[in-house]
This record gives sequence, structure tokens and C-alpha cells, in this order.
Amino acid sequence: MSVENNAPERLTLRKPDDWHVHLRDSSILPFTVGHTARQFGRAIVMPNLKPPVTTTAQALEYRDRILRAVPQGHHFDPLMTLYLTERTPPSEIERAKSSGKVHGVKWYPAGATTNAEHGVQDIRRCDRTIEAMEANDIPLLIHGEVTDPTVDVFDREHVFIEQELSPLLKRHPRLRVVLEHISTRQAVEFVTQAPARVAATITAHHLLLNRNALFTGGLRPHHYCLPVLKREEHRRALVAAATSGNPKFFLGTDSAPHLRRDKESACGCAGIYSAHAAIELYAEVFEAAGALDRLEGFASSYGADFYQLPRSSELLTLERRSWTVPSLLETQQGALLPLRAGEPMPWSLVTADTTA
Ligand code: DOR
Ligand code: ZN
Repeated sequence: MSVENNAPERLTLRKPDDWHVHLRDSSILPFTVGHTARQFGRAIVMPNLKPPVTTTAQALEYRDRILRAVPQGHHFDPLMTLYLTERTPPSEIERAKSSGKVHGVKWYPAGATTNAEHGVQDIRRCDRTIEAMEANDIPLLIHGEVTDPTVDVFDREHVFIEQELSPLLKRHPRLRVVLEHISTRQAVEFVTQAPARVAATITAHHLLLNRNALFTGGLRPHHYCLPVLKREEHRRALVAAATSGNPKFFLGTDSAPHLRRDKESACGCAGIYSAHAAIELYAEVFEAAGALDRLEGFASSYGADFYQLPRSSELLTLERRSWTVPSLLETQQGALLPLRAGEPMPWSLVTADTTA
């Protein structure tokens, strides 16, 4: 990675990957895949479709639909995942492994978030399937929040770590896990102290925003996501982790499109769309922390190492050129508001043609 000086005009790094993204399905794929593929070489694709992607056969069909939506001139490798249910048999894990295309199994606690209603009520009912994941070395990707409605929504991640994740890691000593989209200091501390088989992804929005962003001048549904944004002390802990050079922390946008009408509603959906500007947003965070030289490890190296995939041999260049995020993006299914809608961005992607 080349960083010219303290305030470089250009930044060239190994092409990054997104280790957690929602591309959705059908007519919106050209929109979501277009944004993701212009900056990322690979992405771990979440399986929370309607109906969820629970079998290898479904994952392979979904992968084909994604590949058909990749814009010409881009190389993009969708890394598929399965949605864990209490009925996922151990044999499905064997099929996933032998496909070579499925790279993780996602544990959604039932009801924890968007399309999580088919998720797991009691993870101990999945022990045999998780043993097959240990045997086949397929990581478990975790939405780490308890669903108990009596637990305060801001405490659900750290309570999950105590009540669910710690016992799970003891029951499955060889299981590799990614705690997804961590949002608290407690998660940073837990992952830092855990063995190397435990890693975490961090989103751009959890690095950029604290929970005040939900209430600036009124209710801001476009800043609502799960896990919900936390206090400033937690955001700072996440920035410290992301910029630390610790390989357990790597990039996962959790970019999650919801149409404007579904966000601006009496019961708005959880999810922030960031794929239109993801690597530029992370560059901004790393620059503000004085850590641009560590962006490449976080964005382009540590995730590949954890998933036991080769690091990319392509490069990506960003330049310091201000642009304004559109205030609305039109998708094939309706309009959505992207993160930073109508606001300036200091970094721009230099298109692949000029970096090749
Ligand atoms: O904010 C979120 N949106 N969090 C999730 O866990 C799911 C995601 C979605 O699929 O919309
Ligand atoms: Zn997600």
C-alpha cells in the first residue's frame, strides 16, 4: 500500500473485500451488485432472503443470479453463506464444504433483525450441525444480539456475548466464528482477548456515527440499523480496534438496502445502505484516526487470511477529490436514501480502468 505522506492526494491499496453484505435478490441485484463490485473483489453475501438461503443448492442458484448482475469489466466473486435453522442437517454442511462456494453459515437469533424469523430459537439444538462445521472448518457468522424483549436494546450485544457466545465457544473448541458488525467496547474487548479463531467485522456506519445520529433534529430512520448505534465511547473503541492493525478486525459493510418507503414508516426497517461509497467512507475514518497506512490490512488482507482465501492481487486507487452523495438513489424496486445522502465525501474511487 502506498501512502505518500500525512495528507496524501492518492491512496493505492490491494483491492478490498466486503466480508458482510446484503445484496438482496431479483430486480435490485444490478443496483446492489454494481455498487459492491466497483470497489470490492469479493463479498460474503448474507442469506436472509425471503425465503432464506438454507441449502447449498439455493446458495449456488443465488450465486448465479448475482454473477449475472455483475457489470461488464468487473471481476467479482460472491462468497455464499447458508442461513442456519434448527433443522439444518450436518449433511448440509458437508454439501456446503464440497461446493467450494459456501464460506460460512449465518446464525440469526430468531427475530433479531430483518428476515430473521426463521432463525434459531435455541442454539444448543444446532450442536450436531455446528460439530460438522468444526469438522469441515466452516466459520459460523453471528448476529450477536439477544432477542429477549426485556433486555435493553442497547445492551443486547454484550448480554449476547456473556449468555450465548462464551458458552458456544466452550462447547465447540474448534469452531471458527466471526462476530458480525460489532457495535460495543465489550465486543472489542471480548474479540481481542479471545483465541485467534474468533474475529469480528466492523461497519463504516458504526465507525462514523454514534447514537445521537438517530435523533439529530428529529427522528432519523435512515440511521437505524441493528445492532443499533451506540454511545460515543463505543464508537471510539471500534475505531481503535479497526485501526489497531489487529488482524481479528476486518471490513464488513453490512450494507443493507431498504426502500425509502419502508424506512420512513411507523415501523421502519433496520439497515443502512453504504455500498455506494463504502471504501471511501472507511478511508475517511482511517484518515481521521491518523491511520491511513492501516486501511489496507483492515480492508484487504485480514479478512482474506481469516477465510483462508488468497489476498487479492489487484489494486484499487482512491484520490482526494470531493463529491456529493446523491440525495436519493433510484433502484429497480424504488428509491432509497444512501448513507451521507446529499452530503460531501472527501475521497473518490479512481475507476478500475485507470488503475489496471
Ligand atoms: O441493520 C441491519 N439490516 N442489520 C441486520 O442485521 C440485517 C440488515 C438487513 O438485512 O436489512
Ligand atoms: Zn447484516
